Amino acid sequence: MQLTSLTTHLNEGILTITINRPDKLNALNKTVIEELHTILDSFSKHPEMKAAIITGAGPKSFVAGADIAEFLELDAAGGAALAAKGQELVFSKIEASHKPIIAAVNGFALGGGCELAMACHFRIAAENARFGQPEVNLGLIPGYGGTQRLTQLIGKGKAMELMMTGAMINAAEALQLGLINYVTPAEELLPKANSLLQTIIQKAPLAIAEIIRLTNIAAIGDTNGLQEEINAFGRLFDTADAKEGATAFLEKRTPVFKGN
Ligand code: COA
Repeated sequence: MQLTSLTTHLNEGILTITINRPDKLNALNKTVIEELHTILDSFSKHPEMKAAIITGAGPKSFVAGADIAEFLELDAAGGAALAAKGQELVFSKIEASHKPIIAAVNGFALGGGCELAMACHFRIAAENARFGQPEVNLGLIPGYGGTQRLTQLIGKGKAMELMMTGAMINAAEALQLGLINYVTPAEELLPKANSLLQTIIQKAPLAIAEIIRLTNIAAIGDTNGLQEEINAFGRLFDTADAKEGATAFLEKRTPVFKGN
């Protein structure tokens, strides 16, 4: 598929996916959602792609939200379909990915942009990043998971305030709230993202996949996460990588994990 609104770059196992509509501050229109879905599908299938970074083109914006130009024609059914399709094709797919996906937030992360960052496994941001859920200013609410994931990440009171006021917060505030893990100068954002993922992709992929799955269960809080953890912990003892991990420790060498 020819991509028109995204660019991708694979380097040393890490796929950088750049949303590329800088003249519209990388707003998520139908094409971006479909292309993100295509790339995520390919990412999940190709073993040489071990982790991914999602970022935005240009110095100003990660993603400034869903494309408001597509809103005027929507009625109740159309609005629900937009949210359902986006969540299924992209946001839930990112969250449930077996391989790590992180957001490198290089400017505005508003509405669907904040939600896209929150669907990723964790987030780092440049000093100029701004986060917010301004849908209330349009008479709307978040539709790509914002009410759920913002509450999971920063707690109920602050999530309520941000969604009800529509206010933007800067990177320092986002860091303090736990919405992001690191703030970097703009030029260090992608190097920092790559360096974190290089560390992670040296670990056993099956263990990483279980950490993602179980942490997602904990965030939702509606299944028996402790029992799920016991089951997964047990399953991992049957993997070659767990044998390699313990053997390498005892032999005082670095483990070489193979994903089985
Ligand atoms: N949907 C569609 N177009 C958008 C957009 C969005 N969410 N966000 C920005 N754009 C477009 C603008 O319409 C403008 O296009 P134009 O040059 O053809 O007029 C272009 O991107 C640049 O945006 P502009 O508003 O001129 O930049 P700014 O620096 O003055 O303001 C923002 C930046 C992010 C504060 C402002 O663009 C904004 O408030 N965007 C909407 C954010 C939002 O409500 N998101 C949630 C949507 S549900």
